[in-house]
Amino acid sequence: MKDGVLILDFGSQYTQLIARRIRELGVYAEIHPFATRLSDLSTLRPRALVLSGGPASVTAAGAPMISPELFDAGLPVLGICYGMQLMSLLLGGKVEPASHREYGRAELVLKRGDSLLFRGVRPGKTVWMSHGDSVRSFPPGFVETARTQDGTLAAIERADRHWYAVQFHPEVVHSEEGKTILANFLFAVSALAKNWDMNDFVAAETDRLREVCRGKKVVVGVSGGVDSTTLAVLLSRAAGDGVRPIFVDNGLLRLGEADRVRRTLRDLGVDLAFVDAREVFLSRLAGIVSPERKRKIIGKTFVDVFYKGLSDFDYLAQGTLYPDVIESNPVAGPSATIKTHHNRVREVKALERQGRILEPFRFLFKDEVRQVARLLGIPAAVFGRHPFPGPGLAVRIVGAVAEDKLEKLRRADAIFIDELERGGQYDQVWQAFAVYLPARSVGVMGDERAYGATIALRAVTSVDGMTAGWARLPADLLDRTANRIVREIPGVNRVVYDITSKPPATIEWE
Ligand code: XMP
Repeated sequence: MKDGVLILDFGSQYTQLIARRIRELGVYAEIHPFATRLSDLSTLRPRALVLSGGPASVTAAGAPMISPELFDAGLPVLGICYGMQLMSLLLGGKVEPASHREYGRAELVLKRGDSLLFRGVRPGKTVWMSHGDSVRSFPPGFVETARTQDGTLAAIERADRHWYAVQFHPEVVHSEEGKTILANFLFAVSALAKNWDMNDFVAAETDRLREVCRGKKVVVGVSGGVDSTTLAVLLSRAAGDGVRPIFVDNGLLRLGEADRVRRTLRDLGVDLAFVDAREVFLSRLAGIVSPERKRKIIGKTFVDVFYKGLSDFDYLAQGTLYPDVIESNPVAGPSATIKTHHNRVREVKALERQGRILEPFRFLFKDEVRQVARLLGIPAAVFGRHPFPGPGLAVRIVGAVAEDKLEKLRRADAIFIDELERGGQYDQVWQAFAVYLPARSVGVMGDERAYGATIALRAVTSVDGMTAGWARLPADLLDRTANRIVREIPGVNRVVYDITSKPPATIEWE
């Protein structure tokens, strides 16, 4: 994609947000590690440059640097936080170190009426300020354009070179005029044209895939989640008969899930090949109690069943998203990679070396994939569903997995979800499910004392799954759910509701 914005990443937790905001404004943006040179970029021809924030101090030894020549390329530049300090230092100003960095809300006081960056920005609005190093003297030609209400320098610029810098974070939602400021940088300062729209993406990617896949056989794994479903539909429409979407039933799915996925995809014109691997997964899990062991076994078994079972194909398509790509290419170099993504197991790396991996979403964020899904006519029921973990019900049975427990758990989970939907609560919670506990307890069923299984219900509110609160569900909804579970599922005589938050608990029980 040409004519985009290049964001050089200095390791801020908000760097991905900068790209998302710019794309929401209709301009394509890519993130690259700070050490990237313009000549390293083979496809992006940047029209503007953003220097992100970052945790370091520009005055510290070994602080991440860029070559000052980058400023001679004639591109408009916006420095954010660390980016502002760096611009100040490299362009001839003076920066004093701070002992620590602090974030917080501040009120913006505008100092000039003629700044293009602040055009239309109302004074007194909140910005999310980062108090890091401070600029003691401005580089030649720069003027100050904003401070905060307590007098801290908030923005400087040199308009004749199109160089702008802000100490706060316009990309976060707490900065009320952040979007206007970014829009001003793109359109008023950089005179960019809108070039990023999901309709165009679908059209261009369909054409590209049609070309690449002509006469080729393409396999794609489908889990029923939004990414893989969208990928299978896009590929099938672009490349037709050569595409073979494969669904692996690992025996750890929810009630009716395999049929639901098959039906949804059939309605979208995609025929799924089914691999029934229930037996191998369940036999390898027999007697395993440790949650981590369960996850490892499930991951390895998937590789054995899926990748090793593949034969006679040209390409493997995967629903890898942009955050996975960015995170596997961190600012501090490959050695700092924290997680090895499951889309990069050994079998995939071998195919990658042969140029046989297709990843049409590798530059898309999750919300952009949802837009693609909508454009392809994928029903809201697919992308509005609660997240479901890869290891499935195996991590919702505390202790060893067995078919009789799975059967009870599936039914309890389906009853809970059904009651949430009937009560209008399904979309109010972020995730909800049932858990099978290893505890047995005494109950009275009819005239008999029975010794039965316990089901825990879990429902949480959250934004991103990183932190969560327990959902305050109506008591009568919980009451109906518990009654149905003990009445309809033989062998279950007790239901409990989990009222812990994350942290300290996690959302899942294992
Ligand atoms: P926790 O339990 O860590 O869950 O609070 C946070 C979110 O991650 C999901 N989760 C997983 N997803 N593989 C996955 O694909 C896993 O091993 C896994 N463990 C937890 C969980 O369902 C919740 O949405």
